[in-house]
Amino acid sequence: MSLAVETTAALDVRPLAGTLGAEVLGIDLSSPPDATQAEAIRAAMRDHKVIVFRDQTIDRAAQKDLTRVFGPLLRVPFVEPMADDADVIAVLKEADEANVSNFGGAWHSDFSCLEAPPAISVLHALELPPLGGDTLWCDMAAAHEALSPGYRAMLAGLSGNHTGRPYGTKAALKVPNPSRSIKMKRNDPAADLDSVHPVVRLDPETGEKSLYVNPVYTSHLSGLSREESRPILRFLQEHATRPEFTYRHRWRPGDVVCWDNRRTMHLALNDYDGYRRLLHRTTAAGEVPIAAA
Ligand SMILES: [Fe+2]
Repeated sequence: MSLAVETTAALDVRPLAGTLGAEVLGIDLSSPPDATQAEAIRAAMRDHKVIVFRDQTIDRAAQKDLTRVFGPLLRVPFVEPMADDADVIAVLKEADEANVSNFGGAWHSDFSCLEAPPAISVLHALELPPLGGDTLWCDMAAAHEALSPGYRAMLAGLSGNHTGRPYGTKAALKVPNPSRSIKMKRNDPAADLDSVHPVVRLDPETGEKSLYVNPVYTSHLSGLSREESRPILRFLQEHATRPEFTYRHRWRPGDVVCWDNRRTMHLALNDYDGYRRLLHRTTAAGEVPIAAA
């Protein structure tokens, strides 16, 4: 990654942090990106893993057009979408919802419990608290690269068990009361299952190797007990979320942020009780994770 502004035929791309995150300028997303813009957006995603568009005035159709730049829309399990739009989740916390769990409040990669987890997620900020409610991402490829050769060799053959039952290992994390505004469908056979994924995942587009475990969905390492797995998973979480591997986004209304779930984890801060916060979320489908050789 270069610190210089990269000007493609279509867009300016300006890095926002040391390893991941970039602002993309020079595009109005209210109409569908043309082929040149779409390729430039995909290139920015390949290079930066989290891309930010500011000051956008878009409706749900335009958000879906942007999401399709990365792949077919994916309807995710167990979180109820908007009543009039099955492709969009309203990520909402009302002002009177104090001391409730927020959506995505622990480090995770979206729906890693699925056999083919989502590639890209897109959030569009509509209503925001005057302060707080930031989102953090961490770079799982930079984290993998920074491990010692010996540790990387140890991880290379390992797989992780990811569970959606009952909606991740989150039940084991200390979360307060469930949200009223985001409804979870219980007894969802599409979600109440386990998937096994490589601990080190190959990105077929960039050739990057990235860690692919997270504390919300990864219950244990395959073939190891939970007790044996815990110190390894805890170390990987602490290592991957070191400040130098992160980008923290301070939301403004009109922001659209897209991120690569295959090479990042993210976390939504829940530090804005007393204020309403509403974002629209869409998802692009991804491939079955490929083990890095
Ligand atoms: Fe998430």
